[in-house]
Amino acid sequence: MSKTINRAVTFIDSRTPATITSKEIDLDSCYDENEIVIKVRAAALNPIDLLVHALYFRIPFSNYPKTYSRDYAGVIVRSGQNVDAQWKIGDQVNGCFFHMYGESGSLSNYLILNPAKQQAITHMAIPPNSNQDPFVINAAWPLVFGTAYSALFDYGQKLGPDSKILVIGASTSVSYALIHIAKRVLHVKTVVGICSTKSIERNKVAGFDYLVPYDQGPVTEEVGKLLVGDLANEKFDLIFDSVGNNDFFPVIDKFLKPKSDNGEYVTIAGEHKIDYRSPNPFTLSGARMLLRIVNPLKGYNTHVLLLPCKQEYMKVGSQLISEGKYAPLIDSVYEFNDFEKAIDRLKSNHCKGKVVVKVTDD
Ligand SMILES: NC(=O)c1ccc[n+]([C@@H]2O[C@H](COP(=O)([O-])OP(=O)(O)OC[C@H]3O[C@@H](n4cnc5c(N)ncnc54)[C@H](OP(=O)(O)O)[C@@H]3O)[C@@H](O)[C@H]2O)c1
Repeated sequence: MSKTINRAVTFIDSRTPATITSKEIDLDSCYDENEIVIKVRAAALNPIDLLVHALYFRIPFSNYPKTYSRDYAGVIVRSGQNVDAQWKIGDQVNGCFFHMYGESGSLSNYLILNPAKQQAITHMAIPPNSNQDPFVINAAWPLVFGTAYSALFDYGQKLGPDSKILVIGASTSVSYALIHIAKRVLHVKTVVGICSTKSIERNKVAGFDYLVPYDQGPVTEEVGKLLVGDLANEKFDLIFDSVGNNDFFPVIDKFLKPKSDNGEYVTIAGEHKIDYRSPNPFTLSGARMLLRIVNPLKGYNTHVLLLPCKQEYMKVGSQLISEGKYAPLIDSVYEFNDFEKAIDRLKSNHCKGKVVVKVTDD
């Protein structure tokens, strides 16, 4: 018998705050033959964690503690007899754990999962020349990198050096991953980003070729000037929205290549900016976005991306990190007992990189 206490950040519903709850588990019997047990060393927060908490309304028979968080990095401490031999006790792994209101989440001491189903998992990459905790770095990228990768590869496009991409929300962690994949994997020569004036220099360093501020007048006008000027009136192959924006829809024909030329509009945040402090389910509903997607008369392709659970992007991300081609950006790191500060930081919507929580020490 190997009994231990599993501490986890949980909530009951939108009216109860997140809190640390403890449950005794027996490490020798808490998993089945297809599962591994990961001792979580670090977990990263994502806006989705805030949204699912804020939008869980009290309903009968739902008083169980629901766990926080999806991104994790840790060490395998138990492995079932049917688990693929690549996942061994002692291996350092990271990934994105998919769940919705699950009783198991990554902001927990132990995470039990079936790697054949929870496929967004890989062995941890060790970045060259970094003195940051590798568990912190590796918790900081699976969800955002996977989202960016899916936006660039999952819609049948053939993006390459001659493609032109417009990124609405150049400063988000997803867009930070996207610019690295676009530049280091696809070698796209022209990526335009929209961000606040104060983030322009930082995003230039990240790799954006042109940056347009969203806080100095209508962005469509500024991007329009760039288009007819430096971009020689060549429209974008992809418009990627990582904040929730609808400015371009009324004038989209001027900016995005048509369906026949594979022009794609991909949003990961609907068409309205969400206030993480008090998200409104009606602005989230995306009813207009759905109409845009199904409207057969529109001349361009539209997609609302929901991250798929795949190993493919985990392998690519891990390789880029090992080769020093992508260094996940960390906004801040908190101790487990300070998880509330981590949540507050994410709610500020001013993060420059990931908010990571150190879950266990060894
Ligand atoms: N569908 C999916 O599968 C999926 C997956 C991941 C994320 N998401 C969603 O994608 C969004 C981004 O997530 P994230 O974790 O990458 O965000 P994040 O890193 O927390 O984004 C923070 C950044 O957003 C920028 N920002 C704030 N307001 C803006 C505005 N009005 N216009 C442009 N930029 C603005 C800020 O930079 P500046 O203002 O300084 O430029 C800030 O640094 C969230 O809404 C999240 O829920 C969806």
